[in-house]
Amino acid sequence: MRIEKQRYTERFGSLKINDVQKVLELDSGRRADMPLKEAIAVDKIEEDVIKDFEEKMAIVIPIKDEKLKLFEGVISGVPHECLIIVISNSGQEPVDRFGMERDTLEQFCHFTQSQALIIHQKDPVLAQALAQAGYTDLLDEDGKAVRDGKSEGMVIGLLVAMLAQKEYVGFVDADNYFPGAVWEYVKCYAAGFSIAQSPYAMVRILWRYKPKISGEIYFRKWGRVSETTNKCLNSLISSKTGFETDIIKTANAGEHAMSINLAKILPFASGYAVEPQELVSLCEDYGGVLPTANQKVAKHGIEIFQIESRNPHFHEEKGIVHLREMLLQGLSTVYHSQLCEEETKRMVIRELVAQRAAKRGEEPAKPRINLPLRKMNIKSFIDFMAERMDSYSALKG
Ligand code: GDD
Ligand code: MG
Repeated sequence: MRIEKQRYTERFGSLKINDVQKVLELDSGRRADMPLKEAIAVDKIEEDVIKDFEEKMAIVIPIKDEKLKLFEGVISGVPHECLIIVISNSGQEPVDRFGMERDTLEQFCHFTQSQALIIHQKDPVLAQALAQAGYTDLLDEDGKAVRDGKSEGMVIGLLVAMLAQKEYVGFVDADNYFPGAVWEYVKCYAAGFSIAQSPYAMVRILWRYKPKISGEIYFRKWGRVSETTNKCLNSLISSKTGFETDIIKTANAGEHAMSINLAKILPFASGYAVEPQELVSLCEDYGGVLPTANQKVAKHGIEIFQIESRNPHFHEEKGIVHLREMLLQGLSTVYHSQLCEEETKRMVIRELVAQRAAKRGEEPAKPRINLPLRKMNIKSFIDFMAERMDSYSALKG
């Protein structure tokens, strides 16, 4: 794969936020020395290097009641070397949608000999393992089950990836229409990690186009939600540095990946606040404005890559109410940040009212933020789950 070199990086304390790097070529051919004039502008990531990173990576697919055909396509797009971890919150009654997902995955693994795990988010064993590990943040009021939410599914996926001793985790939504896009996202994750210098690294995907169909296809680039969340997050950073910036272009990126080292120190917000909160928390903890959360991490620095994929992103449309909810949850992370000053707060409120995600005079509710995983007893979770892992494996025998 060939991608643009990091041409521009903004530093905010110990955070290095790289500007968008475009994918130039999906398949860069055989290994060969690169002429210097090309190496100045382009990173060529060799096939076997990508494979090495894929081997160390788990792909977590959160799913809730998606069309089975889409799920089937998504798993077929995950490169073979990766471990697939499906965390499902799909219904089991009256139709056992979870059972159907498990069957589909088992059949896929049977024929491809891929490694995959599938767990239901409400599996009582998970709740027990979390309670024992002192991580009740993720549980509902009775403490009997993991709460609903995509973010909660992601966190479970991260823990299972740790159990499987992976070094990287990439997230891919289950409602992607194009298996080729899924394949490319994972290549981008691997490419980003291969360039990273720090053990604390994150890769966020920016899609080149997100087509809309209204009569004919229109290859739109920005959605209203991501445009607005990016703007408010950039305003938060600008207000602290005194220099206006547009560096953040992936505030809502559902398709993103991180090193396990980074995953352990990140707090994860509930629901759709999760992706913007990752950036807000990093700015708070390592931006150099507030006290630094962890000196060791700060010494290494944290690298964020934003990679623009070639495949258009095409997923299920869930309607305007869903989008408003997403905007509200995303912007609440900016609004309630300790870094947020009056001007950005006013911008957030203005946008929420204009896009009818909040009423005039209403403040967004505080996001619910789960403690970083390093605060729990990860080993206890792993020990508890390890004995039961066979039953979650989709590759039998
Ligand atoms: N395990 C689990 N539990 N998965 C869930 C849950 C849940 O409670 N709720 C939703 N999911 C799954 C969906 O099935 C899908 O695969 C994925 O999480 C994303 O949820 P969507 O509801 O499809 O979100 P979206 O498409 O509107 O938004 C996506 O893209 C945004 C950026 O454009 C998400 O990834 C957002 O988080 C992201 O900001
Ligand atoms: Mg979706």
